Amino acid sequence: MSRTILGIETSCDETAAAVVGEDGSILSSIVSSQVDLHAHFGGVVPELAGRAHLERIVPVVDEALSKAGLSTTAPVDAVAATVGPGLIGALLVGVSFAKGLALAWKVPFVGVNHLEGHLYSALLEDREIPFPAVVLLVSGGHTLLVDMSSPGHYDVLGETVDDAAGEAFDKVGRYLGLSYPGGPEIERLASNGDPKAISFPRPMLNDGLEFSFSGLKTAVVRYVREHRNVDSADVAASFQAALVEVLVEKSLRAAAATNARSICLAGGVAANGPLRKALTSATEQVGLKVFLPSASMCTDNAAMIAAAAHVNLRDHGATELSHGAVPGLRLRSRHEVRTS
Ligand code: KG4
Ligand code: ZN
Repeated sequence: MSRTILGIETSCDETAAAVVGEDGSILSSIVSSQVDLHAHFGGVVPELAGRAHLERIVPVVDEALSKAGLSTTAPVDAVAATVGPGLIGALLVGVSFAKGLALAWKVPFVGVNHLEGHLYSALLEDREIPFPAVVLLVSGGHTLLVDMSSPGHYDVLGETVDDAAGEAFDKVGRYLGLSYPGGPEIERLASNGDPKAISFPRPMLNDGLEFSFSGLKTAVVRYVREHRNVDSADVAASFQAALVEVLVEKSLRAAAATNARSICLAGGVAANGPLRKALTSATEQVGLKVFLPSASMCTDNAAMIAAAAHVNLRDHGATELSHGAVPGLRLRSRHEVRTS
């Protein structure tokens, strides 16, 4: 049987565990979402997240092992956990639990950068991705364009200089009185609106591979203040169209700059229908392949953490048990994959 890794993800508001084989086969993937717990507050409350992870980690890991048909006595070849970026109280639950299991089972512990995990979501669903690939990682906390020349080898091409794409969705959603998280709500509202009704700015559209979404959010707020009777569906559709256009345009530019053969989407915002559609038609026009993971693979899960751990373990070996959680961990380049 191929080597297996138990992955654990507790960086934000999902408690997740998964068992993944060396060949990328997902033997189990369990996600316990805390969205309902935090929705009432309009965003993730760090103390509540940490406590909920503590309550859920044992049943979630138990379920992941039993769904994979494994017993609890030394069942896997390594245990991995997200070490950052994320909320410190949330990260520590998964990191401590994973180290405890690694010690008890006498197997290596592997610390994984959460963002690096996201890079593997498309690959977990389709092993035939032609490299080099550009990954557009768009989540609530991050917006990154990454050049992935092969699994384990990547360079960051550009990131947001202010708000992340999902953060812009969430902030505009809150301003329009929608519930949290704002992304799916805006998509729903926008389906009844005209994306051409309002011409919102396309920040930094013709300017490199960096993103900036804070000005777009401010433009939406200003427009709604000045046009009290505007149809909020038109606002949502026009905002979404502006954001999607920037994401698609920059992804194509990144692909051209790196001679990429494919573009992969990752992160929670990758669940957005108009983004998937626009990226699909834009890539078709220039003859690039596009890979759009399913919504459950786009959003936070532990299968992607275990998949990244296989590559890390192969290329860099185990992580020291003295390695802590790093809330501000960044994804910089292929040479700084994991820990600093
Ligand atoms: O990757 P994720 O589950 O969590 C992290 O931030 O790591 O992403 C959550 C983000 C939220 O900002 C949410 O509003 C956004 O993904 N999102 C969407 C959609 N579904 C989730 N944004 C736009 N359209 C969607 N359908
Ligand atoms: Zn994430």
